[in-house]
Amino acid sequence: MIGSSRQLRLLSMLVLILFTGAINSETLLGRFIKERKEKDPTAEVVVATKYAALPWRLGRKSVLSALKDSLSRLGLSSVELYQLHWPGIWGNEGYIDGLGDAVEQGLVKAVGVSNYSEKRLRAAYKQLKSRGIPLASNQVNYSLIYRLPEENSVKATCDELGITLIAYSPIAQGVLTGKYTPENPPTGPRGRIYTPDFLTKLQPLLNRIKEIGQNYNKTPTQVVLNWLVAQENVVPIPGAKNAEQAKEFAGALGWRLTNDEVNELRSLASQTKPVIGFPVEKL
Ligand SMILES: *[C@@H]1O[C@H](CO)[C@@H](O)[C@H](O)[C@H]1NC(C)=O
Ligand SMILES: *[C@@H]1O[C@H](CO)[C@@H](O)[C@H](O)[C@H]1NC(C)=O
Repeated sequence: MIGSSRQLRLLSMLVLILFTGAINSETLLGRFIKERKEKDPTAEVVVATKYAALPWRLGRKSVLSALKDSLSRLGLSSVELYQLHWPGIWGNEGYIDGLGDAVEQGLVKAVGVSNYSEKRLRAAYKQLKSRGIPLASNQVNYSLIYRLPEENSVKATCDELGITLIAYSPIAQGVLTGKYTPENPPTGPRGRIYTPDFLTKLQPLLNRIKEIGQNYNKTPTQVVLNWLVAQENVVPIPGAKNAEQAKEFAGALGWRLTNDEVNELRSLASQTKPVIGFPVEKL
């Protein structure tokens, strides 16, 4: 079933989420899919990719032509999910019409958007609905320490309209895995957000995540991803750099934190809020 959360979940765990325009990753993924299918013709591969509303790509028709280019790089006749990468500054209606055309032409099974506010979500949902097409997903920044979607009604609107919330940065660039400590903060730009001071305030949360994980025989990463899945209607998309990480991420599924644990982690996370009030996008 299109956009069913099981399918999306499978997708999120197994397949790279691509940026349209990242020519090499689509070409590479196309090659890997071909190799995999040669070894095992029954292998199920679910692909999601994105359309970037770049200044030179305008309107409805450009969505289809970009998608056709993606499909040819991937060597596929259709993909499971096609997403608008971010809201266009203008011409969003044209892009949404283009997504609808892609579904009608059988080039994609489901369509979604990224970083859409409640208002944009409702408009896009309505526009697609008038053609009988569901809006399958909205990809936004969401993790235990970045809960804006809970505060700006995006999560509630997704739930209300049956739109799956795809959570990017679900482990907050590794900070929620517990790999950084006040003594060992990240280097580079991340070090400016995740300062030793911030990491100190985060310790109670990280310690509890670890403790809960031990009860389930799970890693902190698996706990943090499970917390997102427990919000219902949320599919986290951590970026796996190797097979080991992919296996770890897959271990976030098939079990569930209790409601008490879910609430306790949110409340511990809330206590770090003042420090996280300056995400990179505002710097
Ligand atoms: C998401 O939206 C924020 C705020 O409008 C913006 O700064 C950021 O670049 C967007 N990110 C993506 C991936 O679209
Ligand atoms: C997402 O949230 C994290 C905090 O967890 C922040 O550091 C990062 O800049 C945000 N990313 C984007 C693209 O908005």
